[in-house]
Amino acid sequence: MLNNKNIVITGAGSGIGRATSLLAARYGANVCCVDLTDGVQVTADEIQAAGGKALAVRANVAEEAEVEAFVQQCVDHYGRIDGIYANAGVSGGGKSVTELTVADWQRTLGVNTVGVFLAVKHSLKHFLAQGHGAILCTASVAALRANAGGVDYSASKAGVVSIVQTTAYQTYGSGVRINAICPGLIETGMTKPTFDRARERGTEDKIGQINPMKRFGQPNEIGEMACFLLSDRASYVNGQAVPVDGGLSSSHPWVYPRN
Ligand SMILES: NC(=O)c1ccc[n+]([C@@H]2O[C@H](COP(=O)([O-])OP(=O)(O)OC[C@H]3O[C@@H](n4cnc5c(N)ncnc54)[C@H](O)[C@@H]3O)[C@@H](O)[C@H]2O)c1
Repeated sequence: MLNNKNIVITGAGSGIGRATSLLAARYGANVCCVDLTDGVQVTADEIQAAGGKALAVRANVAEEAEVEAFVQQCVDHYGRIDGIYANAGVSGGGKSVTELTVADWQRTLGVNTVGVFLAVKHSLKHFLAQGHGAILCTASVAALRANAGGVDYSASKAGVVSIVQTTAYQTYGSGVRINAICPGLIETGMTKPTFDRARERGTEDKIGQINPMKRFGQPNEIGEMACFLLSDRASYVNGQAVPVDGGLSSSHPWVYPRN
């Protein structure tokens, strides 16, 4: 599905980014794995051990010079960039609106929204010049409705959806596609505290019950959609924020049966 595609994936050291990197390589992509942490090397090593091609880059997606550099590094290493998955993100910690500081907002939006903007800006230079490219971003169901994060996190992800919609029109007729995925609750590094708390209380079986699939999701279930949207199989999908959430965002308020 992704044969000979050179793809940058941010947040590749953990969770959704790591799962998508491994899957993309399995589908034939040459992956440029980016993360702040050493986990990015573990992901790249695993891809290479399985016979795939991967480059590990330690970088901060919130710093413009670093984003410009890792996009260029992909081009220099593989000869071209075909896609980018701007996936790195932070939860913001879930403080209430009255407790949040401006510094909290700047930290959350700095990674989740500015980081996505920078990935779009610096990859687009290459995509517009070559007349093709696929951009994918991780938003969240928090971008669509309340109760999936704090106001800083939710606003940061609504911003991602807006970047996607607006950029789709600013790249009118260019051959570039841009989309977002809105994951529901997925078991990753980011949600580990929620899962740890539930396991301590013995309420793990309650996690994810409020969607009609009655369970939380796994990183691979986002990764499969990500690989599809990055591939030419999604050639007519553009400007969309696609929920992958077990059906959570499809409902009006609802109380699940307790029997
Ligand atoms: N897990 C969920 O339930 C869920 C739901 C909706 C959306 N998301 C989104 O999915 C994306 C991936 O998160 P995850 O759940 O896999 O969490 P995760 O914590 O497992 O992975 C996030 C990765 O992003 C990296 N990262 C954070 N800030 C960075 C920065 N400034 N520069 C470079 N890398 C940075 C982290 O080091 C980490 O490896 C995030 O954008 C998150 O908001 C997650």
